[in-house]
Amino acid sequence: MFNDLDLYNKKYKKKILNSIQKTANENNFIFGNNVKKLERKLSKFTGSKYVCTVGSGTDALLISLLSLNLKKGAEIIIPSFSWLSVVEVVLLLKLKPIFVDVNKENFNLDIYKIKKLITKKTRAVISTSLFGRSCDLNKLKKLLPKNIKLIEDGAQNFGSIFGKNSLNIADISCTSFFPSKNLGSFGDGGAIFTNDNFIYKKIVMLRNHGQKLYSVTSTGPGLNSRLGSIQAGILLEKLKVLNKKLDNQIKLYKKYQIFFSKLKIVGFPLTRNHPRIKDAVSTFNLIVRNRRKLIKIFNKKNIPYKIYYPRPLYKQYQLKNKIRLKNTEFLCKSIISLPFNDLSIKRFNFIKSQLKEIITKNKKIFFEKKI
Ligand SMILES: Cc1ncc(COP(=O)(O)O)c(C=O)c1O
Repeated sequence: MFNDLDLYNKKYKKKILNSIQKTANENNFIFGNNVKKLERKLSKFTGSKYVCTVGSGTDALLISLLSLNLKKGAEIIIPSFSWLSVVEVVLLLKLKPIFVDVNKENFNLDIYKIKKLITKKTRAVISTSLFGRSCDLNKLKKLLPKNIKLIEDGAQNFGSIFGKNSLNIADISCTSFFPSKNLGSFGDGGAIFTNDNFIYKKIVMLRNHGQKLYSVTSTGPGLNSRLGSIQAGILLEKLKVLNKKLDNQIKLYKKYQIFFSKLKIVGFPLTRNHPRIKDAVSTFNLIVRNRRKLIKIFNKKNIPYKIYYPRPLYKQYQLKNKIRLKNTEFLCKSIISLPFNDLSIKRFNFIKSQLKEIITKNKKIFFEKKI
């Protein structure tokens, strides 16, 4: 088992089940009270003026791009190392993905490589804050001309702070409520955040068949991408305890960090000790020299792992290009994700003891100096 979701869900299940029961009695499953309340609470939590819940994190990205009314072929700069949705939404809308390499320090896009990629056709940059660590969105925003919109893909860093809540920095920010995310529902879900009233109004229409509320005439084609009231009720309960969960995740991350540092192993981003930055770490990823060998050992020892991500986004969907970005290629070959999400201390200690044995016998698998 990679994600021990029950560890977290079990504690709050009673309250969650009560909330589901209440929603069932209300019989208002779409845009019910919970949805409105959640949007208000998310606005308060992030500081973002407008919040619009949607069907998933992928839909959040898709609707954000749709709200910009872009013409076919408009260029969208995206990180080459991220989850599929980022390239997928660009391709679905017949826009052109322009890939930017990431850095090896925190795996986020290298903001200093963006300037060279900007052309007359560039309309937006999507930045993914990977594994709970916010990209320097303030710096990135400053680097971009006013006509280029910054979209934050905050599917993995909900709850993080970079000066202010990191879903309240870009022009449009998106998140996912997929069950294993920092704020995870019991199904799919997502949300879009913006301070721009014009964009917000478009997003509200796009998520619901282009309807204008209470009007019979549609203003344009839209989607059916709505967060149900039951999911919203679950998220309201989980939002109350989110900061506690994030504190526990940072504690666990530090445990891994201390463990590897004692053994002089490098290859993972260190927690940031800055008064204005709070990471919302969601996974522990390690760069190793010989991943294939480590996986063989993990399989033998029944240690679960994941590879986030095995392929650069420019090599997905039969995209025909000759792009090879150095850090992305390196990470795709050498990164491995260790059990993290909602991991109990007991299981962590077991994994730690197994890892210690592996490292002692196979030091060459790991990086011991700067990479
Ligand atoms: C970085 C990133 N972007 C977007 C998404 C899409 O979210 P969803 O699965 O809710 O569509 C995910 C989900 O895994 C993600 O990790």
